[in-house]
Amino acid sequence: MPIGMVDHLARRLLAQGRAGRPLLIVALGLLGSACGRQGGAPAAMPGTTPGLAAADAPKPLSVMAEVGKKLFFEPALSASGKQSCASCHDPGHAFAPANALAVQFGGPGLDLQGLRAVPKLTYQIDTPDFSIGPDDVAGLEQHLPGVSPHAGPQAGILAAKPPADPARLSRVLPGVAKASSAVTAATALVPQGGLFWDGREDTLQGQALGPLLNPLEMDNKSADEIVAKLRQLGVVEQLKTLAGPNVATDPKLLLSEALFAIGRYEGEERAFAPYDSKYDQYLQGKLTLSEAEIRGLKLYEDPKKGNCAACHPDRKTADGRMPMFTDYQFEALGVPRNAEIRANADPRYYDLGICGPERTDDHARQPSNCGLFKTPSLRNVATRQAFFHNGVYHHLEDVLRFYVERDIHPEKFYPRKAGGRVDVFNDLPARYRANIDSIDAPFDRKPGEQPALDEMEMKDVIAFLGTLTDGYKPDAVAKAALNAR
Ligand code: HEC
Ligand code: HEC
Repeated sequence: MPIGMVDHLARRLLAQGRAGRPLLIVALGLLGSACGRQGGAPAAMPGTTPGLAAADAPKPLSVMAEVGKKLFFEPALSASGKQSCASCHDPGHAFAPANALAVQFGGPGLDLQGLRAVPKLTYQIDTPDFSIGPDDVAGLEQHLPGVSPHAGPQAGILAAKPPADPARLSRVLPGVAKASSAVTAATALVPQGGLFWDGREDTLQGQALGPLLNPLEMDNKSADEIVAKLRQLGVVEQLKTLAGPNVATDPKLLLSEALFAIGRYEGEERAFAPYDSKYDQYLQGKLTLSEAEIRGLKLYEDPKKGNCAACHPDRKTADGRMPMFTDYQFEALGVPRNAEIRANADPRYYDLGICGPERTDDHARQPSNCGLFKTPSLRNVATRQAFFHNGVYHHLEDVLRFYVERDIHPEKFYPRKAGGRVDVFNDLPARYRANIDSIDAPFDRKPGEQPALDEMEMKDVIAFLGTLTDGYKPDAVAKAALNAR
């Protein structure tokens, strides 16, 4: 273990039993942690204790994080020489794109179109590892008597994946989840966690290297190419002082240290998780919300109205952590196909979320996973200019309308086929449409029924979503209102 890595952060990881792993894995593990993995590392990062609103002044970045910051903003790491992580993950926009394109462009000439909307990178730090249910895959058999332990984990998943998430069902219909032991077992079998819209980066290497090697993004042809660029950037000297002289001679070590540094930046930099939105300050009792925001909050939580909190939880956790506005679970919402994405010109092309094309592991072969995408955090959502995994909507009004009218007025969202019939759920092959959530409010309606939220109520929910934007400076009115309480 090189000297520089044996700081308190690395020691903490070592103490948690990762010592036996090869260095690259440890380093990538740390990066994964910083980008959004669980595993103790984030808790050790100064100023970013997950879920705790720190009122103290931001601490300066460590030297390692400074190197990472430099790399995060370094366009020379891309084939085009013009694209850095920050080009798509702009600090002025919660580390999401500064433009309103549904998907971004990259590649050597910056003219190759990406396939998915770029997520924000704020508050990634708490993302748990991808799993099916709260237990790891090995734990499944324990829940599923009758499934042969030799049949492989997928057999268990196939046998027991519920048609809808009973945990959520239970929130709508109390008692459902506990109706039978079979359903209780099934409760544990919900895909959740992981990075990217499809949670595919559970193996640690891919996450960090992904954008650097992705031909539609920074387009390096190989790890060696990245290493050559790192050498030219002059970070070798800095990394040598932190990680020892071998950095200069061992390309794998240089790469792992560089990726580690990016992770440290994402973990240490306060801007990735400042917990200073209006709503955070409201939860801390520092200010009051406006009447419209309070109305919106109630509708957001009401299981018969917005029901948003069922999947985007808004309350502090039992152990006092701030809410993340995602339960990290996967759902198929049946979002309309987006013609802005060129790949969609091919009628045979579908982005099936967990089922690929980006994801290719065993989970991708489960029909019950097709069309499911990770529930994103709604923190900073009002700063976004493209919504859902395919960026099909550009305004929160359109997102809200989709939620409340998808099943009442499908013709507003889906195109008509040649014969005049509305091509409902047109971005998912018919055989997977049973995966689409039609149980949780507001998706529990039929044509002719009343929408869960009316026009005013949608406006109120949007007003509430506006309180989730970081960097809120309380105005005199809000302070006076609090003092008057
Ligand atoms: C050309 C645009 C582009 C560039 C450049 C880029 N990213 Fe991304 N990033 C994306 C897209 C698109 C996704 C979502 C991909 C998916 O879900 O399949 C993403 C996802 C991520 C995620 C996962 C977030 C989540 O919500 O799960 C992290 C972390 C991340 N990027 C970090 C980086 C880092 C670090 C760099 C630089 C080394 C980088 N990105 C460069 C477009 C980009
Ligand atoms: C059943 C779970 C569920 C419920 C209920 C739910 N959401 Fe979502 N939400 C999701 C999932 C899953 C996605 C991502 C879907 C996709 O991209 O295909 C999402 C995406 C979003 C996005 C896009 C965010 C982004 O960064 O692209 C917004 C905004 C949003 N939800 C707001 C709401 C609001 C407001 C409500 C209540 C009216 C709500 N959601 C109710 C699961 C849910």
